[in-house]
Order: sequence, then C-alpha cells, then structure tokens
Amino acid sequence: MADIILGIESSCDDTSAAVIADGVLLSNVIASQQVHKDFGGVVPELASRAHEQNIVPVVSQALDKAGVKPEDLTAIAFTRGPGLLGSLLVGTSFAKALSLSLDIPMIMVNHLQGHILANFIRQKDIPVREPSFPYLCLLVSGGNSQIVKVSSPLEYEILGQTIDDAVGEAFDKCSKMLGLGYPGGPIIDRLAKQGNPDRFTFAKPNIPGLDYSFSGVKTSLLYFVRDEMAKDPDFMEKNKEDICASFQKTLIDVLMQKLIKAAKQTGIKEITIGGGVSANSGLRERIVQEGEKRHWNTYLPEFKFTTDNAAMIAVSGWFQYKAGVRTPLDVAPVSRMADF
Ligand code: KG4
Repeated sequence: MADIILGIESSCDDTSAAVIADGVLLSNVIASQQVHKDFGGVVPELASRAHEQNIVPVVSQALDKAGVKPEDLTAIAFTRGPGLLGSLLVGTSFAKALSLSLDIPMIMVNHLQGHILANFIRQKDIPVREPSFPYLCLLVSGGNSQIVKVSSPLEYEILGQTIDDAVGEAFDKCSKMLGLGYPGGPIIDRLAKQGNPDRFTFAKPNIPGLDYSFSGVKTSLLYFVRDEMAKDPDFMEKNKEDICASFQKTLIDVLMQKLIKAAKQTGIKEITIGGGVSANSGLRERIVQEGEKRHWNTYLPEFKFTTDNAAMIAVSGWFQYKAGVRTPLDVAPVSRMADF
C-alpha cells in the first residue's frame, strides 16, 4: 500500500492542498487570494477569512484531481508556521478535524522546511534531479533570507541569516517606493529584464560572517530616488527599467557573495535555492553561472514550486512520516519558528 499524504498550506495568502503517493505528486491545488491587491500588501484579517472560505473546496478539489478518497489517506501534513497566525489557524484546525474524523496521524511542517525540500517534489513522467546530502539552500522569501545547511530531510543548520529585512521585503519595498505595485518581486524582475544593471550603484552591506542585511540597500535606493526626483520629477518614470535592473543586481550580488563564502567554508558543492524570491530570473541565471564557474551542482525548483504551495508541505510531511514523526492533536500554530 502506498503512503498517501494530504498536504495543507495556509501560512499567508495562498490556500493550497496537495496529494502525494509514495512521494509522487498526484495533485496540487492553489487558491491565490486576490482580495489584498488594493491594499499594497497582505491584510491578515482578510487572509484568514479567505482561507476559511477556500479550505474545503481546495481540499476537495485536490482529492478529486488525485483520484483519492478521504479514507485512502495515510496522514495529513500541515503548515504549523511561520506565517500569519489567523491564516495558520485555519489550516491547522482543518488538519486536526480531518485527522480526528479519519483516525489518521497528522504531521506538522515548518513552512521553510517545505521551501528547502521543494526540489524533492516528484512528478509522474517528469525526471527529477534531487540534490544529495549535505547541500546548501539559499532560502529567500518575503520573510526570510537564510543560508541553510541541509544534512538530511530532517536535519538543518542555519549558517547565516538576515539581521534586518528579508530580500523579498527589499524587492516589495523598492516597488512600493517606485509606485510600481505589489508584490514587488515579479514586477521588478520583469522591468529589470529591459534595463541596464550597471547604470546605477547602491550601497552594499558590510556584515561579518554569513549573515545578510538588506535595510541599507533599501535606504540607499530611497535617498537616490529622492535626490534625483528633486532634480527631475520625471526621473523615475524615464529610468524605471534601469533602476530596477541595477537594484536587482545589487540584491543578487549581496546574496551570491555570502552563498559563495558559505560554499567555500563548508566545502559543499550541492547548491539549491528556495522561497518566493527563487522565482527571480536574474537570481536563477546567476546561480547557474556561478555554479558552472565553481563546479557546483545547482538545483532550481520549478517556478510553480517557488511560491507557497502544499506540494512541498506534503513532501516534507512524507519524509517525517517515514521517520516516525507524529504530531499530537493539542498542537497550536506559531507565527514564528526559530528552529526547523
Ligand atoms: O515564499 P513566498 O511566496 O512567501 C513568503 O514570504 O513566505 O515569497 C514571497 C516573496 C515576495 O516578497 C515577492 O515579492 C517575492 O517572493 N517574489 C519575487 C519574485 N516572485 C516572488 N522576488 C523577486 N523576483 C521574483 N520573480
């Protein structure tokens, strides 16, 4: 009998459910919430309400698409945190109710662990390249910027992390500053493709070790735009492609500098990326280029698995299930999770 795991993800503004059988993806349904568009960011209260509306249809659809009945399920994996508490409560409570009614175990998953294991999502008839252990993961999202050493699916060590803003936040805040919209990452990525990355320079942080800082780059952009706009009110509009390209290049330079250092220090040449910012085309290109130069084996998750999805939660849960990990029913979601 195959292990059939239902994954549930509700940490932010995507309600997602996925089904995997012995690690192979059968379905992955994502309902992205549009309600936040007019607010320039995710509104937690609205996110929770939308999850509450979406969760039953999304799970039903995932089961239907997979051709799986609830009673076929072996276990339920759900995101416990980090994320928005109200959003996490919806997924966690749903997982508990289903686990009780079907009398099957549930397994809590750290959302970040899901991103880190995204390269292990196996799809039918699609060959998959999986990193071997230990590997380094550059985990970059709206809430995190970390370099993580992954020694096994259940063993993680954070080698470095941001001391202030996450890189995704830097993308989003830059976009807001330039009046380009939310979420900023994909917009800047698109405009950067048409711009000159070497036209402008922004201050880079000088932080010891493997930690990151992105607040200075952001401030440097703020002052630059303010000063230029004082000279020419149309400066932004006329130069937005070059500003985006140059800003994006600065962020990528900062990310890569520490990743290269971490690879040198650990001697690890298996390199992956994960999290929303791993969708960035400039970062993806650069990591492949650096990898070729430095004889790394690089692994990029498919675009559809870079942003929040339940497939990565189901896979993480499956690894834990096989290792005998089970979560008691009195578990509560947490907005922050320091450790994996
Ligand atoms: O992992 P994620 O979906 O959510 C969490 O933060 O957990 O990441 C969202 C972040 C946002 O900051 C968004 O702007 C960024 O990922 N992002 C991108 C791109 N697509 C999404 N950043 C740069 N380039 C992209 N193409």
